[in-house]
Amino acid sequence: MNQHEHFDALLRSESPFLALAPMQDVTDAAFWKLMHRYGGADVYWTEYFRVHAVSRPEKWILESIEQNSTGRPVIAQMIGNDIPSLVRTAKELQQLPVAAIDLNLGCPAPIVYKKCAGGGLLREPQRIDSILGALRDAVSLKFTVKTRVGFASPAEFDALLPIFAKHSIDLLTVHARTVSQMYRLPVHYDLIRQAAETMKCPVCANGHVYSADQALDVLAQTKARGLMIGRGVIRSPWLFNQIRQRLRGEAVTFPTGREVIAYIEALWESQATFDAPEKIQCERMKKFMNYLGEGVAAPFLHQIRRSQSRAEFFQICRAFLDHDQPMKLESPANTPGE
Ligand SMILES: Cc1cc2nc3c(=O)[nH]c(=O)nc-3n(C[C@H](O)[C@H](O)[C@H](O)COP(=O)(O)O)c2cc1C
Repeated sequence: MNQHEHFDALLRSESPFLALAPMQDVTDAAFWKLMHRYGGADVYWTEYFRVHAVSRPEKWILESIEQNSTGRPVIAQMIGNDIPSLVRTAKELQQLPVAAIDLNLGCPAPIVYKKCAGGGLLREPQRIDSILGALRDAVSLKFTVKTRVGFASPAEFDALLPIFAKHSIDLLTVHARTVSQMYRLPVHYDLIRQAAETMKCPVCANGHVYSADQALDVLAQTKARGLMIGRGVIRSPWLFNQIRQRLRGEAVTFPTGREVIAYIEALWESQATFDAPEKIQCERMKKFMNYLGEGVAAPFLHQIRRSQSRAEFFQICRAFLDHDQPMKLESPANTPGE
């Protein structure tokens, strides 16, 4: 089965598909490979390619596509608003081993949305209409869209949905927050359900899932065909398989403290560049630990943030995690970025 057929089968499947969310500076081939060791997602999104008049697809994102060793389909995401450049880039990207081309309509970074790209485009539905029309004509693979529910208010979603529905897209992923909300709660799952009931294409639900129970709740509440998870699987790569266990009606198994240490070691190795000084590696790991640490204990994160060397970093890990007790790694009450 090629990538296209594989993705097509996922979209048609009776059981929900699980997707790893695109995350800048996180979701490269090394991270995908690591997730795959724990069961992984059914489909992976690249970080976004920045598209403008003189852009060339970023080398490091192309590498993630070329080095994908998961055996699962990859979707190439673009961000931008210039139609000829988006069309040019989509045509180029669809020559690569990818299953679909995706357009980002959600990035909340001010530097992006002030240029009317990513989430900024949600303020200009007519412009989205033109972009989707041009891209649908240009993309011979599947064409997908990842959106938030509005720029300033979730009430904007009512006007956005008919535009998405007009352009026979193949999948709509809804991160059910507004751009202004950034990563704060609540997530408007009711609007994902509205999309699932309105759109002809499948809908993928996204936002704030940290446990298998929550995943099943969101799938039931939204009636979405798939579930996309980002920060929850940085925290716990076991989550995808735990969701599969719950979907099969089995008991969920949790990793022990020592298995969490082994994950952190594997994460360190996956992020290690042989010429980077240890202190730089340590800083890079702290970014991941912001997501994982909250699931361990607040003092753990506090100490990790102060570590300066590999030895010190893993000494702290052992102090909190050198045990055989199962760990739920849940603490959504106070999630980083929320
Ligand atoms: C560090 C980071 C980087 C992200 N980069 C992207 C990106 O490149 N493209 C995109 O569509 N969304 C990006 N997102 C948003 C995620 O894909 C996802 O929509 C969001 O985190 C909500 O899902 P979650 O609650 O499961 O993490 C990023 C999020 C984070 C935390």
